[in-house]
Amino acid sequence: MTVEPSQKTVWITGASSGLGYSLAQTYLHKGFKVIASARKEGQLAELSKRYPEQLEFLAFDVADEEQVSVVSQRLAELTSRLDCAILNAGTCEYLNMDDPDWSLFERVNEVNYMGVVRSVRVCLPLLKETPNAHLVGVSSQAVQAPFIRSEAYGASKAAVRYLMASLRLDLAPDDIAVTCILPGFVDTPLTQKNDFDMPFIMSSDEASERIVKAIEKRVFEYAFPKRLTAVLALSRWMPHLWFKRNARTGS
Ligand SMILES: NC(=O)c1ccc[n+]([C@@H]2O[C@H](COP(=O)([O-])OP(=O)(O)OC[C@H]3O[C@@H](n4cnc5c(N)ncnc54)[C@H](OP(=O)(O)O)[C@@H]3O)[C@@H](O)[C@H]2O)c1
Repeated sequence: MTVEPSQKTVWITGASSGLGYSLAQTYLHKGFKVIASARKEGQLAELSKRYPEQLEFLAFDVADEEQVSVVSQRLAELTSRLDCAILNAGTCEYLNMDDPDWSLFERVNEVNYMGVVRSVRVCLPLLKETPNAHLVGVSSQAVQAPFIRSEAYGASKAAVRYLMASLRLDLAPDDIAVTCILPGFVDTPLTQKNDFDMPFIMSSDEASERIVKAIEKRVFEYAFPKRLTAVLALSRWMPHLWFKRNARTGS
């Protein structure tokens, strides 16, 4: 199947569950052609039965450098236009300071940061060929304040935020809009493993609706929910209080 050139097309990485899956559903409802990537087809298999003409699964392990050229080729076979690329694939591992596994930095970085870089390499040629194209990266509200155990995750997401800001400048002559999304807590398989309170958590469907609206407005950065953004601003306004409330108390 090849994508009709007249139909708007979105590529979503990390679309097999959670936020990416909800985003895929939202764009299908909007009539987009959706090219959905992940390692496993997962929940998408059921969705592709409901939207056989609109949804295409493109397997891509964003941590695997060797897949970049074949996935680029396959994406170009699937569509000649790419209106939007949402680089959402991500993982989270926490550092246990009592028994640190330092190798997790590399694992998290290879997916969350280098995975976005590889995905940019895959989609950029098509974005450049599509008028008013849009590149979207998914960072996290975690970058707004330091959290315990989040050294690797937070740093990888801060890198994504910087990457998007920098790409926005470099891609201006190509007329490619760039948006960086900073979600707060969203109820997905990634957060279902968390053992701490997650203030203002919302469903992935609600988060997806908000993200799509922000993408449509072509804002540069969208951090949500605002209540969480306000709380996290405490780390900058009152760093001593933030430290007191959040520092590790020891085992
Ligand atoms: N949930 C939250 O509260 C929250 C908050 C802030 C930011 N985020 C960010 O939002 C994004 C989506 O997370 P989520 O909460 O929806 O988590 P999720 O349900 O665990 O989804 C993660 C997605 O990424 C894919 N993925 C993981 N490793 C991959 C790899 N090596 N190659 C390709 N795909 C890979 C997974 O698919 P496969 O396993 O099939 O590959 C899955 O589709 C992530 O970037 C996350 O950091 C989430």
